[in-house]
Amino acid sequence: MKTPLPFERPVYVSRPALPPLTDYVRRLETIWATNILTNMGPMHEMLELSVGERVGVGRTSLWNNGMTALVAAVSALRLERRKVIVTPFTFPATVHAIALLGLEPVFVDIDDESLTLDPTRIEEVLDPEVGAIVGTHVYGRFCDTKAIDVIARKHDLRVIYDGAHIFGRRAPVMEKQPHVLGDITMLSFHATKLFHSVEGGALITASEDLDHRLRLIRNFGIVNEHDVRGLGLNGKMSEVHAAMGLSMLDLMDAEIDQRLGIASRYVEVLSSIPGIRIVAGGEGIVQYFVLRIDAEEFGSTRDDLHQTLRSLNVISRKYFSPLCSDVEPYNALPSARNLPVARKAASEVIALPLYGGLGLEDADRIADIVRWHQKGKNL
Ligand SMILES: Cc1ncc(COP(=O)(O)O)c(C=O)c1O
Repeated sequence: MKTPLPFERPVYVSRPALPPLTDYVRRLETIWATNILTNMGPMHEMLELSVGERVGVGRTSLWNNGMTALVAAVSALRLERRKVIVTPFTFPATVHAIALLGLEPVFVDIDDESLTLDPTRIEEVLDPEVGAIVGTHVYGRFCDTKAIDVIARKHDLRVIYDGAHIFGRRAPVMEKQPHVLGDITMLSFHATKLFHSVEGGALITASEDLDHRLRLIRNFGIVNEHDVRGLGLNGKMSEVHAAMGLSMLDLMDAEIDQRLGIASRYVEVLSSIPGIRIVAGGEGIVQYFVLRIDAEEFGSTRDDLHQTLRSLNVISRKYFSPLCSDVEPYNALPSARNLPVARKAASEVIALPLYGGLGLEDADRIADIVRWHQKGKNL
């Protein structure tokens, strides 16, 4: 095997898809004509409806980003108990949303297969102070929502899912099962996601009461010009962002198809390499393409592979590493200490570039770099 040539320009782990500019400009012209820029205008209402239809369950509210939405979701629960169980294997936003509200995150280890919160470990950490569970649907793979629901009912706990990664699926995104949403599920429409509105997010809930509460929080708690009720923030998505979301929705299925093609090229080469486990990318879930590297079997560490890829201009990501439980201020918590499954996963995961515009030849080149690295760079 020849020494691979470096890519001329950096190939990042994701690159936002963009609609044809004429399509977006057409929507902007409508905004210019109506002069409505925000405060739940027509673009917002149309996107909210379309996202809800694609999700397939519950009531959908749009937000200006996923993190604000998550803070609002935790706040809407009006928890009386001050501890919240959370996965350490997630993006910092998940844990910040708890801590910013003055609540204490309690880390629970993850399942080695799904990399999501391990339901069998939850009851070990329960005490009368725990009021809720926040799980993350990692790389678009769902938590064990059924098992979590059983525990939540038994101990009267609320449940929130960080579903930042799940809106990259074909419709319907979620099965109609009573436990699938928890109390509230968040989606992120950040530019790094398969579907995006540049910045944006959504909250889904089956509860009419929670939906109503969330909509109040989204707009400063304002009921009408005479009445403000409870705490609120500004979580509104602007018309300009909603217009981008509407344009992107039209492209979504094509983007999924392109990514599936790229993922299957990766799988062809990588699945037979010793020490590699493909943990995301394929079977209709193409938000990310993620490998786990078993250093002993693979013959080198994930960090070595990451370095080789970088040296050839492939900017892979160690996603999620570091663990949230290993960074300040969370590393001082007692629950941050004993998380062996999450810690091992964080040292083994590596996300390879996956986006519609990548091109099959580039995917082949990247897969070949991984193979060449594993063969000791000398075949
Ligand atoms: C798991 C997870 N949660 C939360 C977020 C935050 O979402 P946003 O960027 O829309 O605020 C992200 C990343 O964007 C994420 O990957």
